[in-house]
Amino acid sequence: MGVFASTDDPGSTGHEQVVFCQDKQTGLKAIIGIYSTALGPALGGTRFYPYASEEAALADVLDLSRGMAYKNALAGLDLGGGKAVIWGDPEQIKSEALLRAYGRFVESLAGRYYTACDVGTYVADMDVIARETRYVTGRSVEHGGAGDSSILTAWGVFQGMRAAAEHVWGAPTLAGKRVGVAGLGKVGKYLTKHLLDDGAEVVATDVNPKALEWVRTTHPQVELVDDASALVAADIDVYAPCALGGALNDDTVPALRAKVVTGAANNQLAHPGIEKLLADRGILYTPDYVVNAGGVIQVADEIEGFNFERAKLRATKIYDTTREILQLADDEGVPPAVAADRLAERRMADVGRLRSILLR
Ligand SMILES: NC(=O)c1ccc[n+]([C@@H]2O[C@H](COP(=O)([O-])OP(=O)(O)OC[C@H]3O[C@@H](n4cnc5c(N)ncnc54)[C@H](O)[C@@H]3O)[C@@H](O)[C@H]2O)c1
Repeated sequence: MGVFASTDDPGSTGHEQVVFCQDKQTGLKAIIGIYSTALGPALGGTRFYPYASEEAALADVLDLSRGMAYKNALAGLDLGGGKAVIWGDPEQIKSEALLRAYGRFVESLAGRYYTACDVGTYVADMDVIARETRYVTGRSVEHGGAGDSSILTAWGVFQGMRAAAEHVWGAPTLAGKRVGVAGLGKVGKYLTKHLLDDGAEVVATDVNPKALEWVRTTHPQVELVDDASALVAADIDVYAPCALGGALNDDTVPALRAKVVTGAANNQLAHPGIEKLLADRGILYTPDYVVNAGGVIQVADEIEGFNFERAKLRATKIYDTTREILQLADDEGVPPAVAADRLAERRMADVGRLRSILLR
């Protein structure tokens, strides 16, 4: 077992550190990307995925770790941004030994990086990794963890949507509005409940028959449409992408009838420039990484010893942060996605700079 590269990389990507980890016995090949520790230890999940090449794995970890720095900064956390990828097919190579080998590499960073779940890794995996390192969140409740992070993700999305509703219609409520939820998975289900409780009408779609069966049984008042294209074209006030990335693209944005887009999915903008297209059509888009931060807020709370009510209070603040971003966007004449980036960069610079005040 050995680290075959560990490098400070202040060059083109701006990352503080990128660590390549390898353990031949177990087949572990992982890359840990630390974009910034300006606000504290870097927190971000571990993606376990069969990348086509090492270059593809590296590109993904660099991108994702940068994104986490912005997300954690705007979530008000005293945490920087990092992410890790394990390169390989989890179905084929995931084992106790591999996860524990990975845990030892995380431990070797002495708290500069905290890991969590992501695509291909689950709460049970975090419990295994935690046998080798203290620097892990997203563990099971039995092991002191925060459990299912989709609960506060949905709560945070709902708060962001309230702020958008206030900005567009003058009141922080979805009462009387028609909201289209694309994806009734872990987050979409909780979001649907919050919306119905608030007095909204919900129109929804999912590709999974079980999810549709759930909504027919538990919330028969929800109107179902055939697919995401039908939802985009439907007479809705708010569109909530809660399935996969890329929901806002060159086809969907021109067809969209909603005035607001607020949803849980990561990477909703298919490519740079879509935020401008939305703004030009008069559609208010609340940046995904701002409104879906409830999940990271939930798992980050584990570092202090998990307290659901405290984490929920923090996730409720997504309402205030979204308001601030929308105001800044208006003041500076830029789309909310640009305003959000500016606010995150400002916090990293202003608070990160304080480390230059010597304490001893
Ligand atoms: N769970 C969290 O805490 C969390 C945190 C931040 C961001 N997110 C993001 O939010 C999104 C939803 O997460 P989740 O945990 O609910 O995932 P999930 O897998 O539980 O749910 C996704 C749902 O979308 C459905 N779906 C997939 N393709 C679809 C399509 N083309 N049209 C309609 N429905 C489709 C699936 O059948 C599933 O029911 C993801 O993009 C995820 O990355 C989740």
